[in-house]
Amino acid sequence: MTDKKVAVFRKESFNAAHRLNNSMWDTATNQKVFGKCNLPNYHGHNYDLIVKVIGMPDPKTGFVMDMKVLSDLIKEQVIERFDHKNLNLDTKEFKGLNPTAENIAMVIYDLLRSKIDEKLQMQVRLYETPRNFVEYPAVV
Ligand code: NI
Repeated sequence: MTDKKVAVFRKESFNAAHRLNNSMWDTATNQKVFGKCNLPNYHGHNYDLIVKVIGMPDPKTGFVMDMKVLSDLIKEQVIERFDHKNLNLDTKEFKGLNPTAENIAMVIYDLLRSKIDEKLQMQVRLYETPRNFVEYPAVV
């Protein structure tokens, strides 16, 4: 039987501040590993988020998922939570978790996964800069 799955994507963006630091390490090691992202007074990134949802189009609507519903979900679960926030200081999700693009993508995935029909597969792509981006899960 032919695979009739389709991937749909919704793009949103938010900006947030962070600082990468491992409190188990000394200052020199933190600076060496995290570079500018270790600067003590935090700095911002303009994050672009792409949420991919994969499934069979519903025979009645022709939609894999209503994009308005997906957009509202991302806004309510992710944008309102993180936009214009200091991820280290203002969010409970990153109190004890280094806010790398990898960890942010994993947190976002978990926030959305439970709200999207389990029959649909999902993947999150997060751009920290136009050239640096991550995907979670790595393989759908
Ligand atoms: Ni940074």
